[in-house]
Amino acid sequence: MSRTRVYKVAQELGLSSKELIEKLEELDINVTNHMSTIEADEAELIMEILGGEGKSGSSENNAGKENESDLEVIKFAGILTVSELAKLLGKTPAEIITSLIKKGIMATINQEVDIDTANEIAFECGCEIEVEAEEEEEIEGLEIEEDKEEDLVYRSPIVTVMGHVDHGKTTLLDSIRNTNVTEKEAGGITQHIGASVVNISGKKITFLDTPGHEAFTSMRARGAQVTDIAILIVAADDGIMPQTVEAINHAKAAQVPIIVAINKIDKPAANPDRVKQELSEHGLLVEDWGGDIISVPVSAKQNENIDTLLEMILLVAEMEELKANPNRKATGIVIEGELDKGRGPVATVVVQNGTLKVGDPVVVGSTYGKVRAMLDDKGKNVKKAGPATPVEILGLSDVPQAGDQFIVVGSDKIARSVSEKRKDKIRAAQMKASQKVSLDDLFQQM
Ligand code: GTP
Ligand code: MG
Repeated sequence: MSRTRVYKVAQELGLSSKELIEKLEELDINVTNHMSTIEADEAELIMEILGGEGKSGSSENNAGKENESDLEVIKFAGILTVSELAKLLGKTPAEIITSLIKKGIMATINQEVDIDTANEIAFECGCEIEVEAEEEEEIEGLEIEEDKEEDLVYRSPIVTVMGHVDHGKTTLLDSIRNTNVTEKEAGGITQHIGASVVNISGKKITFLDTPGHEAFTSMRARGAQVTDIAILIVAADDGIMPQTVEAINHAKAAQVPIIVAINKIDKPAANPDRVKQELSEHGLLVEDWGGDIISVPVSAKQNENIDTLLEMILLVAEMEELKANPNRKATGIVIEGELDKGRGPVATVVVQNGTLKVGDPVVVGSTYGKVRAMLDDKGKNVKKAGPATPVEILGLSDVPQAGDQFIVVGSDKIARSVSEKRKDKIRAAQMKASQKVSLDDLFQQM
């Protein structure tokens, strides 16, 4: 049965992907995003219901537009930046930037372009860009089965705080942890790993402390999306700064909901209204300005309104319907990797699905091992870790990289053989790259 992408259906109907997804929700058809696929006959039906004329009649609707079948499909893996898009479409970055400005988007050459916008530009050139997940080799023992709906249960949200330097990211996280640690832990909490879990009246939120912008980008470039919600922190006395804009673009490209924390409201120079105005200039219209972006004025330093911010995070998480199956072998993402003098390779991971247990054979990027011990965010030894739980794991043969995926496999033997195959592949790629360099050198000398 052939399937079609949500954004293509949207395009046929003359809607944005977002508008179509909203309409589908009203029809009780839930899709994750514009890249989700729908059965072709279901798509036909949707087009009929939503006023289109179905695929056969739609070419008239698209008068002036390229017929879908005439579009040249360009496949792309990785992060689609302005310069990458320019290369793909055979244009200069300046031309792409101009097209973006016409659409009201200010962008720099290294900035990421979301796929919808990229395709609007691509369509004008008679092309269509399809972002592919990084190719995964088919290796026995590595198959990940889709979960059945009935096996899924709600999981806690994984949240990243992003913002400009000194706008209060660390202070906010400290404040969140202190306002929520239990009596016996109060004041004595030690941060052991780059992630922490807070418990708000029985509901948990996992905060990732490490992903600064670079880590966030490099993780996403490798297909690792670990954040469910982005908290954009903006100092009310400083307003939107360059890294705030970067953070906004990252969150938009990752298609995760954004909650704005307008920080430092205790300062005399604080001007939350100016922040809201500036946010609107970057396409984020806050609720009290008639938009749908939640913003919460806070003082991370004086612990003001932090509870409201946490409530909002839980509210957004609830709307996202985040689910996982705890009763399967674990998969997840590496947040940090390091070589510890005494303990050997140590990886901080976040379990995304399943339950990770001590003793599990695991493949992590191109390395592997058997989980010898696990420590939770409070530095306590744990035997297992369920969905959305960050843990530090020991027992790997090598240090993995941030963004590497980990997969629990059936046996130690499978883990080792997958790791070897992946290492071979990396070596082959490195060899190819070095050969290319020497050939290029050769040509340059000629
Ligand atoms: P980087 O990690 O360097 O990007 O900075 P950051 O965003 O983590 O900022 P950090 O939390 O280190 O805060 C920077 C400075 O702002 C510190 O001196 C904080 O004490 C101060 N600060 C943070 N939040 C508030 C606040 O709500 N009110 C006031 N008055 N100062 C704050
Ligand atoms: Mg900091």
